Amino acid sequence: MPTYAVLGAQWGDEGKGKVVDFLARDADIVARFSGGDNAGHTVMNPMGTFKLHLVPVGVFWPQTLGVIGNGAVVNPDVLIQEIDDLQRRGVDLDGRLMVSERSHLVMPYHSVLDELAEAARSEAIGTTGRGIGPAYTDKAARIGIRVADLLDIEALLPRLEDAMAHHNAIIEKVYGGEPVPLDKVYDRCKEWAALMMPYVGSVEHVVYDALQEGRVVVLEGAQGALLDLDHGTYPFVTSSHPTIGGACTGLGLLPNQIDAVMGVFKAYSTRVGSGPFLTELKDATGERIRNLAGEFGTTTGRARRVGWFDSVAARYSLRVNGYTSLVLTRLDVLDSFDSIRLCSAYELDGDIVTDFPGSAAVLERCTPVYEDFPGWDSPTAGATDFDSLPEGARAYVRRLEELIGRPIDIISTGPHRHETIEVRSMVSA
Ligand code: IMP
Repeated sequence: MPTYAVLGAQWGDEGKGKVVDFLARDADIVARFSGGDNAGHTVMNPMGTFKLHLVPVGVFWPQTLGVIGNGAVVNPDVLIQEIDDLQRRGVDLDGRLMVSERSHLVMPYHSVLDELAEAARSEAIGTTGRGIGPAYTDKAARIGIRVADLLDIEALLPRLEDAMAHHNAIIEKVYGGEPVPLDKVYDRCKEWAALMMPYVGSVEHVVYDALQEGRVVVLEGAQGALLDLDHGTYPFVTSSHPTIGGACTGLGLLPNQIDAVMGVFKAYSTRVGSGPFLTELKDATGERIRNLAGEFGTTTGRARRVGWFDSVAARYSLRVNGYTSLVLTRLDVLDSFDSIRLCSAYELDGDIVTDFPGSAAVLERCTPVYEDFPGWDSPTAGATDFDSLPEGARAYVRRLEELIGRPIDIISTGPHRHETIEVRSMVSA
C-alpha cells in the first residue's frame, strides 16, 4: 500500500512516534506535514531512546528519506540541534532529510509573542510556548518568513524589517514587553541559511515523483484530530491541521493519492493544556494512570490530564479523518486496574448525545455516560499475539472497535518496536 497516513486521533500524544518507527521499516519516505516543534515524538529502538520534535521519526530506518512539508513550521535552531544530536548518535542524515522551501520559519519573536499572548488571555490555551500559533498567524497574514527566504538573504532584509516593525510594536505597545532586536535576528538568519542549505529542497515534487513510481510514503501526523484548528475543540486547539486534509495541503498531495488513513488512539485519553475533557479523572485513578504511563509532556514536561476513553470523540475523529484502520496504543497501562470505564455517549440537559458537539461551551455542559469493564487478570505488556491477550482485554478492544466503527489492526503493548500486535497486516493489505 503506497501511501498511508498515521494520524493522532485524540488530543495528541497517542504514541504515534512508536507506531511510525515500527511501520517505517517498509517506507521509502516519511513525511511530516503539519505543526512544528510543539510536537514531541518519543522513540525507543535498537539505536536508543530519542525524543524528536521536527525530524520525522522514520529516519531511523536507513532506506527512508525524511521530509518536512510546506504545511509544517520550522524553528531552525531546534531543527539544527536535532540534526546534530542524531548525527552524533550515529543516525546518518546526509541526503536523507529534506525541508520544504515553502515551510514557514518559527522566528525568535514568535515565541515571545506566544508567551505574551498566553499571559494576557483571560483563559489561557496552555500552548507549548514554542511560537507555533504566531508563526501560523504570520503565514495567514502573509508576513511570514519561509525557508526559501533564507536562500536570498538580501531580499529577506526588507521583509524582516516590515514583519518585525509590526511585531515589535505589538510586543511593546500592546503587551509592554521588550522588543526583539532586528540585527540579531537577521544575523541568525544568515547562520541558519548556511546550516540549513544542505537540507532544503522541493519536497512536494520529491513526494509526488515518489508516488508516481509507486514508492511507499508514510504521512507522519503530529498532534491530534481534536487539536485541529477547524475540527478540534476551538479555541483550545493548535494552529495547524493535524487531520487528513492537512496532509494534502501540507505536502501538496492529491486526496486520491492517499491509500489508507490509520487513526492512532491511546487505550485511555490524555490532553495537555486547557479545554473540554469530559472523561477527565481528577482523582487517584487519574494520578495512577499518569504515573504508570509517565504522562508528562515530551516538549514541555507538563503533567498531562488523564481520563477514560471517549468513544463519542473517537467517532467524531473517525468522521473528520475517514480512518481505514485503527491503532491502539498503551493497552498495557490498563493492566493493573480492577475496573475500566469507557464513555459510550454524553448526556446533555437530560438527552443522550452521540455526536460530538461543535462548541467547547456545549461540550463543557455534557456529562459522560459510561460502560464498565472488569479489569483483566494477566498482563498484556509486551504481548505480540492477539489471541494470547487476557479475555478481558480482548473484550475491551472488541467493544472499542464496535463503538468507533472500524477494526483495530495494530495494538501496541509497550514502547519497543517488538512490543506490537499486528492483528491484521494492514501494511501489506
Ligand atoms: P500550541 O500548538 O503550542 O499553540 O498549543 C496549543 C494546544 O495544543 C495546547 O493545548 C498544547 O498543549 C496542545 N499541543 C500542541 N502540540 C501538542 C502535542 O504534540 N501533543 C499534545 N498537545 C499538544
